[in-house]
Amino acid sequence: MKIIRSPAAMTAWSEGLRRAGVTIGFVPTMGALHEGHRTLIREARLQCDALVVSIFVNPTQFGPQEDLAKYPRPISHDRAICRQEGVDVCFEPTAEAMYPAGFQTTVTVPAVARRWEGEARPHHFSGVATVVTKLFGMVRPHRALFGQKDFQQSVLVQQLVKDLNLGVDIVVRPTVREQDGLAMSSRNIYLSPDERARAVTLYKSLQAGAEVIKVGDTDAKAVRSVMDQVVTRESTITTDYLAVCDPRTLEPVSFVTSRVVLLGAIRLGSVRLIDNLLVNAPRRAS
Ligand code: PAF
Repeated sequence: MKIIRSPAAMTAWSEGLRRAGVTIGFVPTMGALHEGHRTLIREARLQCDALVVSIFVNPTQFGPQEDLAKYPRPISHDRAICRQEGVDVCFEPTAEAMYPAGFQTTVTVPAVARRWEGEARPHHFSGVATVVTKLFGMVRPHRALFGQKDFQQSVLVQQLVKDLNLGVDIVVRPTVREQDGLAMSSRNIYLSPDERARAVTLYKSLQAGAEVIKVGDTDAKAVRSVMDQVVTRESTITTDYLAVCDPRTLEPVSFVTSRVVLLGAIRLGSVRLIDNLLVNAPRRAS
């Protein structure tokens, strides 16, 4: 496996392969790789001839009060996973190479980024959209894989690629979960044992909402209220948002008449967790 740090060297490697007709798969990450990333890497390995994984903790998507400084950076562990999964290039640019002196162009994010994470984390999605655009420009992949865990990010990236004609095929893969249902995330390591035991509450709340829909209640208020009850039973958890939304626009719906996404964000102590579930409205008997 090659480790490339310079953006120019990354592009030169990819351009050489593109000219030879090789399809390049790409999994962008911030490192601290877990089973969720491994699943994306395996899928990309199957779908493409050559495979690049980027590891870059992108400073511009963190708010001033967020965890940029303490974000886990286990680079030897990450490289070992990449080697095990047959990655061809681990792209590890420095912050100086990504944002050199004089850098000034950023991507303004679309409406799908306005609510939910966009409200809770101002500038986050502009940072994500900008770095993803830059990484695509450097890696020149044919296809890039993202996890459904960051649902709003995946919708944003699809919109970005379409609006800016980036010419990358975006594949979104289902969330990988721990045995109890907690969505895998690099930030789960921040949870104390007690918080870890309670962290599954968010998934339980989404599941409870999905059950309401499955038994035929189409009123989004009723779905939300059941989701809310599950979280408020845990006095140490605070809700950032629980929502029933259109999965394309991420606008809240009043009634569940087709596929919806249940979105949630909670706080346990200083840890913030997000999760989501896609749910189909049950077919009406005719
Ligand atoms: O999902 C992530 O890990 C990051 O937001 C991404 C897409 C690598 C951009 O920094």
